[in-house]
Amino acid sequence: MLNIGPRLLCAALMVRKNRKTVDIGTDHAYLPAYLVMNGISERVLACDIGVKPLGNAAKTLRQFDLKDKISLRVSDGLKEVSPEEAEEITICGMGGTLMSDILRAAPWIRNEGVHLVLQPMTHSEDVREYLCENGFLITQERCVKDAGRVYCCIGAKYSGEKKDWPAGYFYFGTLSFSDELSAEFMKKQAHRVKTKLEALEKSDASNEKLPYLRDIYSYYEERCRCEGSGCL
Ligand SMILES: C[S@@+](CC[C@H](N)C(=O)[O-])C[C@H]1O[C@@H](n2cnc3c(N)ncnc32)[C@H](O)[C@@H]1O
Repeated sequence: MLNIGPRLLCAALMVRKNRKTVDIGTDHAYLPAYLVMNGISERVLACDIGVKPLGNAAKTLRQFDLKDKISLRVSDGLKEVSPEEAEEITICGMGGTLMSDILRAAPWIRNEGVHLVLQPMTHSEDVREYLCENGFLITQERCVKDAGRVYCCIGAKYSGEKKDWPAGYFYFGTLSFSDELSAEFMKKQAHRVKTKLEALEKSDASNEKLPYLRDIYSYYEERCRCEGSGCL
């Protein structure tokens, strides 16, 4: 039996049905395996930068007899993927900074036919910042707990529309305090910002990053007040 765990399951359930799907950084190809075994995707192109992870993926394909439905390819990000192959792009289990670099290096994804499912392990703010500054709309965001840690999963679609988003939006996105896991995630993000802010205030009170960090923390405080979350 294939058990992909809550984090990957959360991502899998955001994938649109019957689209050409590409998974970047696939490692064991558990996500592609789940997608084809559950009728979400007919076929998946599973990519990884490393040959060893693709060896893990090949094992999964053999174990579940999926060689006809999942193709494996060595690719640094989306470099070896062509626009015709990708309607649904999943990138899970990497840091948000790397994830945003991968997206930035593939300008062809800025296309209305493309939908992204992104599950950053850290620095989700870098992912949201990339999305907002490149004309993507965050269409869905969910938090999930896996092995005691809360992760966010982001669904986004290209619209071409650019707005002046406050930096706070990059940190907290469309998450809401009304959902317990999202509130936990937001609290952690705010704590990261506050820790950085306090350390800089002590060590380098004229640092140019301070106003940016203060803005983000004020955005969080304002949202706490408006949504009556008692998170402060
Ligand atoms: C921690 S694993 C995540 C596996 C799976 N996606 C998950 O969420 O469980 C990260 C994978 O990303 C791959 N990776 C790292 N940088 C990459 C890049 N630039 N392009 C493609 N794959 C990359 C690594 O080789 C590794 O297999």
